[in-house]
Amino acid sequence: MSAPTRPLVYNFFLMDTPSHISQGMWRHPESRATEYNDLGLWVELAQLAERHHFDAIFIADNFGMYPPVGGSSDVVIERALQFPISEPAMLVSAMAHATKDLGIVYTNSVLQQHPFAFARQMSTLDHLTNGRVGWNMVSSFNANGFRSMGMDGFVDHDERYTWLEEYVEVVYKLWEGSWADGAVLKDRDTGIYADPSKVRKINHLGKRYSVEGPHLSEPSPQRTPVLFQAGSSAAGLDFGARHTEGAFMISGKPEASASKIAKMKERAIALGRNANDIHFIEGLTFVVGSTEEEAQRKADELDEWADVTAQMAMSSASAGIDLTRFDPDEPLVNIIDQAQGLRGSIQLCIDNAPKGKVATVADLGRDNARQWRITGTPESIADRITEYAEAGVTGINIMSITVPGTFADFAEHVTPILKERGLMQREYQEGTLREKLFPGGGPRLGETHPARAYRDSHEYSH
Ligand SMILES: Cc1cc2nc3c(=O)[nH]c(=O)nc-3n(C[C@H](O)[C@H](O)[C@H](O)COP(=O)(O)O)c2cc1C
Repeated sequence: MSAPTRPLVYNFFLMDTPSHISQGMWRHPESRATEYNDLGLWVELAQLAERHHFDAIFIADNFGMYPPVGGSSDVVIERALQFPISEPAMLVSAMAHATKDLGIVYTNSVLQQHPFAFARQMSTLDHLTNGRVGWNMVSSFNANGFRSMGMDGFVDHDERYTWLEEYVEVVYKLWEGSWADGAVLKDRDTGIYADPSKVRKINHLGKRYSVEGPHLSEPSPQRTPVLFQAGSSAAGLDFGARHTEGAFMISGKPEASASKIAKMKERAIALGRNANDIHFIEGLTFVVGSTEEEAQRKADELDEWADVTAQMAMSSASAGIDLTRFDPDEPLVNIIDQAQGLRGSIQLCIDNAPKGKVATVADLGRDNARQWRITGTPESIADRITEYAEAGVTGINIMSITVPGTFADFAEHVTPILKERGLMQREYQEGTLREKLFPGGGPRLGETHPARAYRDSHEYSH
């Protein structure tokens, strides 16, 4: 196997909730996921990540409640299916204060807050972290969230991306265009803090937003935080190719990652960006043992805690179809076309069925958590990560089974092998999160990024 030319990016991936992706695991005796409201847990996680040279902690978010299954929301409430869920941005400064180099990436959807308010929140955190924040840009796929924010229900899929497109335009104008370089003087002798000729309103007038500005925060180290996104639809891919610096994926197989990466790169290049402007970050989870047998025993023990009902409710929500309506033995190929939402995990289950077996609705609930799982010794896990790297993946999001168990096992047992093989950094690069992820490129968005258009682009006015 040929080694990749540079180390991959590694992130802890979790949510501010007791149960993120592996449903039922919050009940495991070693899980501390129910401490999600305790800052102590988050600080410990951040320090664990930094001690082992992980690049970032990535906090996902789900702004709303998962839809009912079988006509009721009881399962969602009883089983803690990403509910209750707290606000991820609140965790950032405490984790940053306890670390020096770790990146902290959090999710904000167009639904959550007005872009003028969000831009200030992000700039504040970029200042407080010394340039270590990233933004997972999401348009939100939770109908309940839309209804709770005063809308009738879902905004149409592609319209959500049009919305996101205007949202980023507003924040780019604020972050990149409102304050010119050199605007901040902090001159005690003249008593002039900032130069009015270099601070401007943005006067944005669009379909959804009217924003006068100027940006309330002075320019932060990165100005625009490092931008992340996950999108697999045509509109999502197009948005990602245009804007993202880190594409999150859950593909299940290196071949599937390779095909997504090829599509995204082709589109990005067509839009005038460079092939290396984007990190491709695959979501995986790991069960580590000192032998293959021990790892498998551990995986079997963890499976005993899986909550298949909650897992099925989660799959139903993301697929946009109530899977509990079907006979558990119904082949998934017969129902996939009825799914209104994300079909990726259903397709993955169909594709990953053992030879001679047809994947069923029951398999989707049972196997969902296993689709992204690599079970093995540190060496065999490093081999598998190498296969992903050879497929073009440049980063791994480690999804938790138990918190902090999954992260701690990976940190303690797998990272030494990855470092030995040149697959993981042994020390941090200097500078902001952007400089760490893209060495040599500087703290600000590159010249090929569309946000560049808003620098020095319009007249100053107050
Ligand atoms: C690894 C990963 C992480 C994601 N994190 C979030 C999240 O935190 N919040 C959210 O609302 N959507 C999240 N999503 C969903 C994406 O933002 C997006 O809606 C989804 O990939 C579907 O894209 P598409 O509509 O273009 O197919 C995530 C998706 C992936 C693959």
